Amino acid sequence: AAETKTSAAPSAVGDTITIGHVGSMTGNEATFGQSTDNGIKLAVDEINKKNGIKGKKVVLKTYDDQGKPEEAAVASTRLVTQDKVLVYLGEVASSRSIAMGPIADSNKIPMISNASTNPKVTKDGDKTRPFVFRVCFIDPFQGTVMAKFAAENKKFKKVAILRDVGNDYSVGLATFFTNKFKELGGEIVDDVSYKAGDQDFKAQLTKLKSKNAEAFFVPGYYTEVALIARQARELGIKAPFLGGDGWDSAKLYEIAKGALDGAYFSTHYSAEDTSPIVQEFITKYKGAYNSVPDAYGVLGYDAANVAFAAIDKAKELTGQAVRDAIEETKGYKGVSGTITLDKDHNAVKSAVVIGVEKNVGKFAATISP
Ligand code: PHE
Repeated sequence: AAETKTSAAPSAVGDTITIGHVGSMTGNEATFGQSTDNGIKLAVDEINKKNGIKGKKVVLKTYDDQGKPEEAAVASTRLVTQDKVLVYLGEVASSRSIAMGPIADSNKIPMISNASTNPKVTKDGDKTRPFVFRVCFIDPFQGTVMAKFAAENKKFKKVAILRDVGNDYSVGLATFFTNKFKELGGEIVDDVSYKAGDQDFKAQLTKLKSKNAEAFFVPGYYTEVALIARQARELGIKAPFLGGDGWDSAKLYEIAKGALDGAYFSTHYSAEDTSPIVQEFITKYKGAYNSVPDAYGVLGYDAANVAFAAIDKAKELTGQAVRDAIEETKGYKGVSGTITLDKDHNAVKSAVVIGVEKNVGKFAATISP
């Protein structure tokens, strides 16, 4: 867990509030960590321009987990024991947030996941995580959104699934989609697996080709999804692809080179949303980074601001008091939508569906919970 970046050094000991971020700044999903960090930094700069929180400047410590759950856990421990953060943010990938949560609980320092959607991040069966929160929706909702979209909007009856078996998010979302799609009368004609890092998906795709699915549901991360789509087209498979938020990256289109035309995926935000809060954020983000923010940039910004609002409201500057304040988050107007945390510490909010046309993602629908 190498430290990559730190904002301005503390002006004086005791005058600052340190917050942490654990993200994949390098590795297969580097855009996850980098965009999130960009969003968090914007929020930190803004609050510091307004004289910080309770008169104290906010200092951000970011650690790179290289996309590895073990490193994400090591980085979390370092943030709470060595850097003495009051709260820490991250991760995007559910498998890494699941590895980070126990450290928040055992040290009584709150953690807010910006973008991990697997239910286990905040509650694994009966095991609750009192110090872990998230500002995004969860996969039972996202799976339902796409299953309804497939069954009702698209009238698909037969869908095949390709899931990344090494990824908690992918496995969970595939299952939630399956349950809902069957409930709506659909049939899953096959369900095959791959692993992140694989380059060749021809064996799975050849097997699927004979099943005559009307669509493929591929709830993975953008790199593999785009490669799978290209190889499917090479094999003459014409069925459209469906997926979830793991697709949301400019890299998806760079790698797919048009192979995903006709596809749809659910995610947290669309840059085409004309509401002032979204357009103002896009302008600020472009000014700072010269690019249009993706979902992680937006959710990083929202996660940081939810943390700041809670620190401001907290009775004292302790992990316990900040935790108690985060738990009260209600109706917070974020760029990714209005954030209200439910009893399991999950945000209940709408999803957007994006359709891919001519290798460009276009807003298709907003779906409320
Ligand atoms: N929701 C995904 C996960 O839990 C991560 C993700 C979030 C990917 C947002 C893309 C956009 O693993």
